[in-house]
Amino acid sequence: MIRSIIAGIGKYVPSTVVTNNDLTNFMDTTDEWIQERTGIKERRYAHRTEETTTTMGVEAAKVAIERAGLTPQDIDFIIFATLSPDYYFPGCGVLLQRAMQMKQVGALDIRNQCSGFVYAVSVADQFIKSGMYKNILVVGAEKHSFGLDFSTRGRNVSVIFGDGAGAVVLQATEDTNRGILSTHLHSDGMDAEILAMFNPGTHANHWKADAATFNNAEMGDMFMSHTMIDEAQNFPNMDGPAVFKTAVVKFPEVILEALTANGYQSSDLQLLIPHQANLRIAQFVQQKLKLNDEQVFNNIQKYGNTTAASVPIALCEAWEAGKIKEGDLVCLAAFGSGFTWASALLKW
Ligand code: UT7
Repeated sequence: MIRSIIAGIGKYVPSTVVTNNDLTNFMDTTDEWIQERTGIKERRYAHRTEETTTTMGVEAAKVAIERAGLTPQDIDFIIFATLSPDYYFPGCGVLLQRAMQMKQVGALDIRNQCSGFVYAVSVADQFIKSGMYKNILVVGAEKHSFGLDFSTRGRNVSVIFGDGAGAVVLQATEDTNRGILSTHLHSDGMDAEILAMFNPGTHANHWKADAATFNNAEMGDMFMSHTMIDEAQNFPNMDGPAVFKTAVVKFPEVILEALTANGYQSSDLQLLIPHQANLRIAQFVQQKLKLNDEQVFNNIQKYGNTTAASVPIALCEAWEAGKIKEGDLVCLAAFGSGFTWASALLKW
């Protein structure tokens, strides 16, 4: 029987620290509001021109690969999760393959927002268990700061998000005492528009306003129009309270699903790494599952919500701090736009 272990883990966060007070220069908000509602004190923003989602992913990947005792040439497959790709297409996977001078291995991009990394781990695990690949690089990276509405209009979204990247090398092992025990993936598209960025996109909602006839200029306008920009339709939209209400139900559900599937209870968990969406959500989950403070790792205070990067950054930081030891039962869990939610249970 083949299992996947995390053979190496790395993270990268940009050096620029943006505090809550810094944000008050652009919008009507306060440090008090942000900390009270989200737990966030500061976040990192990538360099405007020199850092991209891919370059941050590359930095995290270098560390993960080195810690696995491998070189980029040993990687058999790349999975890159992000909602903020460098280009509309192609995806970041091939850009990372090029930047790291890897072999011409397959590169898959995952678009599952906050649960993207856990979905990516699940996909990698299946490839490894099937015997197809031995070393898969899984990356979660985001450069949110390029595309947020920094006016008061966008404050419910923009104060939350930060930039960064995390990566793991998943490796095949025949040691059945370790590795990923199971992964659990879910979605419910009924609420797809509750947390979404609609434009640019191919949906028809704005077509009538911008293009009455089908000529070249107006067809172009459909994709990126002046109205879209004037009305700030090219920024993420979120009904925060609605996301919150579903998150506090689905997070515990998917964690319990993973524990139950493997004959464990929440008291058996050494560490839960929840997607860093909001400290209050993590606290709800902790309470619901009756976990003590040592069993849950949070670092949203320093980085904000880094979407697909949040789980690997938190996992890496917890590991670097010595909070995860060999044999520990660790659960990764995420919930976000889609809605999509997922968990992975593993023995370190
Ligand atoms: O990772 C992806 C998944 N996303 C999430 O999990 C996010 C889940 N939702 C949340 O984290 C919270 O809903 C937020 C942090 C986004 C918002 O917190 P909230 O306690 O739900 O606040 P709210 O949206 O109900 O807004 C309350 C008030 C409103 O003012 P009024 O209408 O009561 O006068 C907002 O306009 O707070 C106002 N507000 C702000 N005030 C200062 C919204 N954003 C801000 C802000 N600063 N940044």
